Amino acid sequence: MKTFRVLGTTRLIMLAMALLCSLLAPPLVTAAESEFRQQFIYNYKTLSFSAQVDLIKKSETIMLDEIISLANDAMAKEIGFGQRMYMLDAASAMVSGYTYYIGIDRKLKKVKKRVDKLIASELRKEKEKNAELMKWKKEERFIGNFIMNANMAKMEKEGLAPVIYPHWVHRIWFECKVCHSDIFIMKRWRNEISQEKIVAGEQCGVCHNGKIAFSAEEKCERCHMGGLEEAKRLHDVDHVDHDNIAKVAKMLGAEWNVDKLPEGKMPVDRFGFIDWLELKRLDIFKPIHSLDKNYQPEVRENLIYFKAKSKVKDVLFDHEVHSSWIECSSCHPEIFSESLKNNVKMVAMSKGKFCGHCHGKVSFTFADCLRCHSQEKDTRQEEVLLHVGKKRVKRVKRK
Ligand code: HEC
Ligand code: HEC
Ligand code: HEC
Ligand code: HEC
Ligand code: HEC
Ligand code: HEC
Repeated sequence: MKTFRVLGTTRLIMLAMALLCSLLAPPLVTAAESEFRQQFIYNYKTLSFSAQVDLIKKSETIMLDEIISLANDAMAKEIGFGQRMYMLDAASAMVSGYTYYIGIDRKLKKVKKRVDKLIASELRKEKEKNAELMKWKKEERFIGNFIMNANMAKMEKEGLAPVIYPHWVHRIWFECKVCHSDIFIMKRWRNEISQEKIVAGEQCGVCHNGKIAFSAEEKCERCHMGGLEEAKRLHDVDHVDHDNIAKVAKMLGAEWNVDKLPEGKMPVDRFGFIDWLELKRLDIFKPIHSLDKNYQPEVRENLIYFKAKSKVKDVLFDHEVHSSWIECSSCHPEIFSESLKNNVKMVAMSKGKFCGHCHGKVSFTFADCLRCHSQEKDTRQEEVLLHVGKKRVKRVKRK
């Protein structure tokens, strides 16, 4: 058993190294590597969004062939798993780029199907090698599911699976303010969550004490079910137990109006993730602000307009939508200073800064460009605040 575990860890480390090397190493240059591919991969790695958009737009006629040739090259025998997944991932990014900036057509659908199939089959093949790594990634694919396994060794000792924390399920009953930041810092792995603290009534135990929710002293497997069959329903909104949600909502003083669901179904975006604002617009749910009945919510009602420094459409940030659920102190001052001068950039966001603190993690993904870039260029209304950004200080050349 011991040796097995050691072997498993070594393999994991090796895989991580392989992935890292493939990211750091220059992309495998073969004779077939076209200028388009080199440029695309370069932009992709350096997160040069606007250069990428330009490249895609001017490559319409060759792009589908380019994707196929990249996918084929990725499957060459001499290429290792890390490099292969990297190339397939780039092919998949090309498919997305084509979808957004050129459009969906029959040929694209065929190409996409091929790329998706290759990725799926590669993952299947490598599954044995890196079952650990991939399993947990997969468990988190549905936005708002977190695997908690910092104390994995101790859980294994008791024959328990890691915890799957369905962040999204909790959002149905509770506004963000309930948990952030009184109970949890809004950052993964920062809270040092442990069974001991939970049972003592902290962290999850603020609610999972047999009063507000099932107790952590008995229903072990209701939380410790990461990767198990029972957890499957947490990855699929079609399997939501609406009666239980309504029952819990009623008990808490929240609302879950099943009868208002369009055709009885959860509204989802085009990626299959829950569309929370549609749920709100249709008056389906009404989470509670706080566990404290005397709590006075603070909301800021204004709109902030971001003139995007590129050809993409502009962005409108709604302070009200955000602050009605989220505490001011969750965003200010750590994520944004209380001003219009933050240096908000796509690259920083995709690394988890600014809007990326939530979007792509618990809120709709970055792939959904147009949900943020929704404003026709330069159509700012009078009453809307204008984001200024970091003012560049012009350097004066001196002799
Ligand atoms: C019932 C409690 C609860 C509610 C309600 C809740 N969260 Fe969380 N949130 C958590 C926990 C637990 C974590 C993980 C903390 C850890 O791993 O240490 C977390 C983590 C996060 C993270 C960090 C993600 C990352 O990858 O680092 C963000 C962002 C976040 N929550 C945003 C929100 C937003 C926005 C809302 C409301 C729409 C919300 N949360 C509602 C409990 C909650
Ligand atoms: C603010 C209160 C609150 C906090 C904090 C909280 N929960 Fe919950 N949780 C609930 C309620 C209420 C339910 C619904 C219980 C029921 O179905 O009877 C629930 C349900 C669950 C479920 C079952 C979901 C399902 O559909 O089967 C899991 C798993 C869970 N919580 C895990 C956690 C973990 C892990 C933490 C800490 C990281 C946590 N919860 C923190 C209130 C909370
Ligand atoms: C409300 C959800 C919940 C329930 C129910 C629950 N746990 Fe946990 N448990 C957690 C979380 C969250 C962690 C921390 C996970 C991590 O390591 O990141 C944890 C960690 C653990 C650990 C690792 C050591 C430690 O102190 O963190 C053990 C052992 C454990 N739980 C045992 C149990 C047992 C036994 C039961 C049933 C009597 C149980 N748990 C019920 C949420 C729960
Ligand atoms: C989801 C994150 C978020 C939340 C929650 C939030 N803000 Fe902001 N806030 C922003 C962003 C983004 C800006 C604009 C940053 C920029 O343009 O550089 C901003 C700007 C501001 C500004 C300067 C512009 C203005 O509106 O006058 C103030 C003041 C401010 N916020 C106060 C608050 C207060 C008070 C709350 C709570 C009621 C709050 N914010 C909640 C993200 C947030
Ligand atoms: C602290 C977390 C957090 C931060 C930071 C954040 N958002 Fe959001 N945002 C949310 C949540 C939660 C929603 C509700 C929808 C969801 O969860 O998918 C939302 C919704 C939105 C919507 C949809 C509004 C609508 O009416 O359809 C837009 C657009 C948006 N955010 C843009 C931004 C932009 C731009 C930034 C950065 C300037 C930003 N958000 C920063 C949490 C956040
Ligand atoms: C959560 C909201 C959000 C999403 C989703 C989003 N963006 Fe942005 N984007 C912004 C904000 C805010 C800015 C900053 C605007 C400014 O002041 O330049 C921005 C700026 C940009 C810029 C200008 C240059 C730069 O790097 O700042 C480009 C290009 C861009 N986005 C492309 C995209 C593309 C392509 C996607 C989809 C893959 C996307 N964005 C998705 C919010 C978003």
